[in-house]
Amino acid sequence: MANLGEFIAGMPKCELHVHIEGTLEPDMKFALARRNGVALPYADEAAMKAAYDFDDLPSFLKIYYEGMSVLLHEQDFFDVTFAYLAKARSQNVRYAEMFFDPQAHTARGVPFATVIRGIRRAQAEAERVLGVKSQLICCVLRDWSAEFAMTTLLETLPYKDWIVGFGLDSDEQNNPPVKFKAVFERARREGYFLTMHADVDQRNSAEHIRQLLEDIRVDRIDHGVNALESAGLCDEILRRKLALTVCPISNACISPSSKAKEVRRMLELGMRATVNSDDPAYFRGYIGENFVRAQRDADLGRQDLMQLSRNAFEGAWLPSAIKDRFLAELDAYTSD
Ligand code: ADE
Ligand code: ZN
Repeated sequence: MANLGEFIAGMPKCELHVHIEGTLEPDMKFALARRNGVALPYADEAAMKAAYDFDDLPSFLKIYYEGMSVLLHEQDFFDVTFAYLAKARSQNVRYAEMFFDPQAHTARGVPFATVIRGIRRAQAEAERVLGVKSQLICCVLRDWSAEFAMTTLLETLPYKDWIVGFGLDSDEQNNPPVKFKAVFERARREGYFLTMHADVDQRNSAEHIRQLLEDIRVDRIDHGVNALESAGLCDEILRRKLALTVCPISNACISPSSKAKEVRRMLELGMRATVNSDDPAYFRGYIGENFVRAQRDADLGRQDLMQLSRNAFEGAWLPSAIKDRFLAELDAYTSD
C-alpha cells in the first residue's frame, strides 16, 4: 500500500461516537428548511459555515441545537441518518453506534415516535442497500433536569428493541454524572448498555470520570481523555477494558489540541482508545479525516491505526459472533 492515507482509507472501521444530529450538513439543512418552510438565520451555506467558529463546548452546542429546527418529520430523520450511513460506508465503516438526542426534538413538539421511526427506517435501508450495520444509543441532555431525562427514558421503552445503549451529552459544566444516577440505574435495569460523555478539559473532568466509573458504572466513556491525569482512573479503565471514544477533530475545535498524543499514550498503556467523528458536519471531518488527523498529530503507524480500529470493534455492543466476523475482516486487511 502506497501511503498511510490510502491505508487509512481502506481500513475497515467501526464508529462508536457520532451524533446523528451532528451529521446534518449545511446543504441538507437548507434543503430541509425549504421543504419544511423553516427560516434559517443565514443567507446561504457560506454564511452558515462561517458561523461554525467554535472555541468551546457551549459555543458549539448553541449552533448544534439551532440547526435542528429543520428536522420536523419522519422523512427528515430518515434523510439525515441515511446520508450519514452512506458517507460512513464510503469511508469503509462496517458498523456504527449512533447517538440521537430525542429531547432536542420532543421539547420542540416533535414526537419521539417520529424521530426514532425515521432513524430506524434509514438504518434498515442502509443495511440492506449499502451493507453498513448500525445500532442506536439514546442520549439525554445533562443541562436539562433529571426528571426530563427519566421521562425520556420511559418514552424509549416501547422501542427498547431498537436501542442498544443509553448515554449522556450536552453541556458538562455544573452537570456532573451523579445528577443522573437514578436515571442510569433504571436504564441499566431496562437492559441498556451505559455510556456518558466526559468531554475534554472540562472544569471537573477527572472527578466526573471518577463518578462515571464508581457511581454510574458505565460500560464505555465518550471522550474521557482527561483520565490520563490520574493513574488510578487509568488502572480502573484498563481493568474493566472500557472503550474510550476519542474524537480528534472535535477536540481540536473545542480545546487547544486534537489530543492525538493522548491517544498514542492510551495505546501505549493498553487502554481501549478509539477514533471517531462526534459531529462531523460541524467539525468538518468524518471518521476517515479523524484517523488522518490522529495519525498526523501523533505520528501513528499502521499497527497503531489497526489497534484503534480493533479496539472499536472489540468495544462494540454486538454479539461476539458478529464482532468476530468484523475482527476477522480487519485482520485480513493487513495479511494480503
Ligand atoms: N452533543 C453533540 N456533540 C456533543 C459533544 N461533543 N459533547 C457534548 N454534547 C454533545
Ligand atoms: Zn459527542
